[in-house]
Amino acid sequence: MQEEGDDALYSEPVRFPAYVLSKAGAVIRPAVVQLEDSNLPAGDVLVRVDWSAINFKDAMVTRPGNRVARAFPLVPGVELAGTVEESSSPEFVPGQRVLAQGYDLGVAHHGGFAAYARVPAEWVVPLPDALSCRHAAIIGLAGFTALLSLRRLVQHGTTSEDGPMLVTGASGGVGSAAVALLSKAGFEVVASSGKTAEHEYLESLGATRVVGRQFTEDDGRTLGPQLWGGVVDCVGGTALAEALRTVRYGGAVAASGLTGGNDLATTIYPFIVRGVALLGIDTVATPIAERRALWADMADAFPLEHCEEMVNEEIGLDGLTAALDRVLDAAVRGRILVAPGR
Ligand SMILES: NC(=O)c1ccc[n+]([C@@H]2O[C@H](COP(=O)([O-])OP(=O)(O)OC[C@H]3O[C@@H](n4cnc5c(N)ncnc54)[C@H](OP(=O)(O)O)[C@@H]3O)[C@@H](O)[C@H]2O)c1
Repeated sequence: MQEEGDDALYSEPVRFPAYVLSKAGAVIRPAVVQLEDSNLPAGDVLVRVDWSAINFKDAMVTRPGNRVARAFPLVPGVELAGTVEESSSPEFVPGQRVLAQGYDLGVAHHGGFAAYARVPAEWVVPLPDALSCRHAAIIGLAGFTALLSLRRLVQHGTTSEDGPMLVTGASGGVGSAAVALLSKAGFEVVASSGKTAEHEYLESLGATRVVGRQFTEDDGRTLGPQLWGGVVDCVGGTALAEALRTVRYGGAVAASGLTGGNDLATTIYPFIVRGVALLGIDTVATPIAERRALWADMADAFPLEHCEEMVNEEIGLDGLTAALDRVLDAAVRGRILVAPGR
């Protein structure tokens, strides 16, 4: 933040804009304020945030009574991509392009919706040469969740020979990325989306077919037809129950989300009659070694030519409150990028 030997600047606090949530009783209030670097939490690496992006979880932390945010006042933003400004860790050097996501970021430790963030080195992922900070924000935690889902399905034994892969919540961040990743990996992809206007978009990402949110006939039977080789589900609720009922014998469903609800009404039969596996996907506490390894593979796995199509909108901090509401209303296709320094 200051030139070496520039003593005049030494005592000057660095001031920068941040989107801060404060809590009074049950009310959570957002405001764009100026912070100083001394307001940032402890950490080894100071990052100038070039881009952040909105995730569903960011919208949840703004809601009264949510159990996601664990500290106030809080700069939300569960992910960020930017440039190392200062580092006390030998692993990172000023000028290096990095991303940070998950762990306590944006829920109990100031996150990406500010022009600067300070984070522990063990949360930081070096960006591979082929990925810009903008790529990292577009792909983001959503793309990482989709890639982890794909890896878990492949580790389970799922191949493109097993039949079409179903992606639920397909027009959202995780869903769009899953459609693009699975298609690039050679799978036939069926996208389930409630947004009829986005069928063309989903086909452009590689879906061979687009179906509605209700993707099976409710025939009243405990087990349905074996329609899918595997499923990437980020919706939960009824969608997850339907996926379990209709995935093929020995197939797996990778479950990461709950936009359709956090209940799961199913029976034991998919598991004991069809040998179906339910693979839980967590990207908050993914060990850093695995996170760095997956990001190192991301440029090869992800069709980067689709990145710009996935950008819904670019906003500054002053556009966040309205954008977070739109995300909660499921009215967003793809990713909303946040440029905190704008
Ligand atoms: N496990 C993890 O580590 C992890 C990581 C990242 C995200 N997540 C979770 O994954 C989910 C998706 O995240 P995201 O960032 O992709 O969110 P998003 O961009 O807001 O997309 C969510 C999509 O879910 C679908 N949807 C929304 N409401 C629905 C409803 N009532 N019924 C059915 N579908 C609905 C919509 O797709 P259509 O309109 O196309 O149907 C929507 O676009 C969230 O629950 C998030 O918390 C989990």
